[in-house]
Amino acid sequence: MAERARRVVAVLGRGVVPAEAPLLRADDLGALRGDGVFETMHVRAGAPWLVEAHLARMARSAARLELPLPAAAALARLAAQACAAWPADVEGALRLVCTRGPETGGPPTTYALVSAVADAVRAARRAGLAVATASLGVAAAARGDAPWLLGGVKSLSYATNMATLRWAAGRGVDDVLWVSADGYALEGPTSTLVWADGGALCTVPAADTGVLPGCTARYLLDHAAGAGFAAAERMVRPAALAAADGVWLASSVRGLAEVRALDGAALPASRHTAALRDLLGFPAP
Ligand SMILES: Cc1ncc(COP(=O)(O)O)c(C=O)c1O
Repeated sequence: MAERARRVVAVLGRGVVPAEAPLLRADDLGALRGDGVFETMHVRAGAPWLVEAHLARMARSAARLELPLPAAAALARLAAQACAAWPADVEGALRLVCTRGPETGGPPTTYALVSAVADAVRAARRAGLAVATASLGVAAAARGDAPWLLGGVKSLSYATNMATLRWAAGRGVDDVLWVSADGYALEGPTSTLVWADGGALCTVPAADTGVLPGCTARYLLDHAAGAGFAAAERMVRPAALAAADGVWLASSVRGLAEVRALDGAALPASRHTAALRDLLGFPAP
């Protein structure tokens, strides 16, 4: 089978099933309402990377949704089971999904899906990204006072995120940097903003802004000393990024993609990209 078409699916309580096997009921609230949580992990050497950090975030997301989540050990086993059926020498993308289950009651639907890394993701690692800013329509601090906006929660309701990326594609750019109504850079629809400012490797403070606390950016900042950086969490306006020593979008499967143009203005290639990619353990593209 062509690698890009390959899928591995494992279902909690059933194990690995054929990729075409039906597993969601028509009245599953994950499908009806986008009511559920998920995590995406990089699969390397036949195992999910940073699985503990992802499971911890999944538990926090589920708690915010008052969603009963299977035990972390069971989720870790499910993830490992799916990854073990994926060829160990091929990198992959693991999505671990837990819905609220049938509307009429019943257990959550929990499954793991491993698929190939998209060509566009590989291309972005190599060539970087042209990015446009787009308003998220809320002030940076607003989501702290409005927990129903689910700031910091990785829920299954990603229609807005996907619509933002389609909007970007329609404008001929690769990705988006969401900006708050009061003008601060927040995050991408599927990525965390990271930038270098002199000796500091920076990201946006998740607790103050409601952005998703990215596992990749967290790992990068926790290991920043290995590339000669101090770690910092700061608010930044997009215009200030033009003076940075590097701007990246970070996420689990892409690792790092360098922002090479922001709102049509070219950003110079950063001399730090290779060292940061090495910190994340991704091979040279
Ligand atoms: C909205 C959003 N922000 C940030 C990220 C990056 O998070 P991570 O590094 O944990 O993949 C993601 C990942 O998909 C995301 O969806």
